[in-house]
Amino acid sequence: MLVFRQLFDPQSSTYTYLLGDHTGGEAVLIDPVFEQVRRDMALIEELDLTLKATLETHVHADHVTAAWLLKRRTGSKIMVAQASGAEGADRYLGQDEVVSFGERRLLVRATPGHTSGCLTYVLDDHSRAFTGDCLLIRGSGRTDFQEGDPAAMYRSVREQIFTLPDECLLCPAHDYRGLTVTSVGEERRYNPRLGGDIAVGDFTGYMKNLKLAHPKLLEVAVPANLRCGRPEKEEGLAADPTWAHLHYSFAGVWEINPHGLEDLHGPVQILDVRESDEFTGPLGHIAGATLIPLGQLAERVDELNRDQPIIAVCRAGSRSAQATAILQQAGFSAVANLNGGMLRWRAEGHPVEGGSE
Ligand code: FE2
Repeated sequence: MLVFRQLFDPQSSTYTYLLGDHTGGEAVLIDPVFEQVRRDMALIEELDLTLKATLETHVHADHVTAAWLLKRRTGSKIMVAQASGAEGADRYLGQDEVVSFGERRLLVRATPGHTSGCLTYVLDDHSRAFTGDCLLIRGSGRTDFQEGDPAAMYRSVREQIFTLPDECLLCPAHDYRGLTVTSVGEERRYNPRLGGDIAVGDFTGYMKNLKLAHPKLLEVAVPANLRCGRPEKEEGLAADPTWAHLHYSFAGVWEINPHGLEDLHGPVQILDVRESDEFTGPLGHIAGATLIPLGQLAERVDELNRDQPIIAVCRAGSRSAQATAILQQAGFSAVANLNGGMLRWRAEGHPVEGGSE
């Protein structure tokens, strides 16, 4: 069964779409955002997907694509429009080309107007289409910079998008009002710029008088996206933690597994955030652990050593995940959660102080 996830970047109001053939199969990401790579990778790993490619709907002006960074991490192929002018892609796409992932396919339709290299990706069964910044929900992308052309956009929408079945769901690259999805039938009737009997002259008149603010990131994002998101200086990239073998969960927490903790060399603080009767109770605790119950942690952080990494522990791993957030807020950077807590630690046979059989 198709895996479909709509992901949101609040900074740029960008939607990223994850499409997988099935859990455990091949996947593609449409319009991934540079700052969201850890989040997206965590989801891909938790769903056991293999990222085959990243697809851009166009050269964005409001965020930098994660295409290059994802390729570096996973070997995924970078795919952009031939007409985008971007350098460094593995495959350049044009009208009627096909991108496959597992048994599923996306069909490419050229939908210029917002930029000259805009593409719409249509799912093989016509159940969904990804329209980028061409058609938005009850709106359209702007046509007043890059190679914007309102007459071209009108033709793209009328000939390439409104020709899909009425029930086809449309997934745009942005929404600024909290809307997430629409359909061809809905937009044909209700889109105030492009629906109904609106003619090309009406649309171009509308678009020429929008008077929108200059996009804030234009000067940064467009040149970076023309390199498929490759930074000018690669050494400045925020690196993943190296003090232990950690993984980042989709819930947004750095975590360590029990055997990762036991294999850890070098000084580390074990912070147990359970209540004191649990600490001395039947599950026992890890030797050398410091006990600070979660409810007291915010006011007692100064009892911890700021120069040593901290691993937070609780019964099952959820209070300790909250503890890592409190510590990060208090300025601790090397912090991780023991996945599964004392329950998993004991179940996997790691040594315990106190406790009962
Ligand atoms: Fe755009």
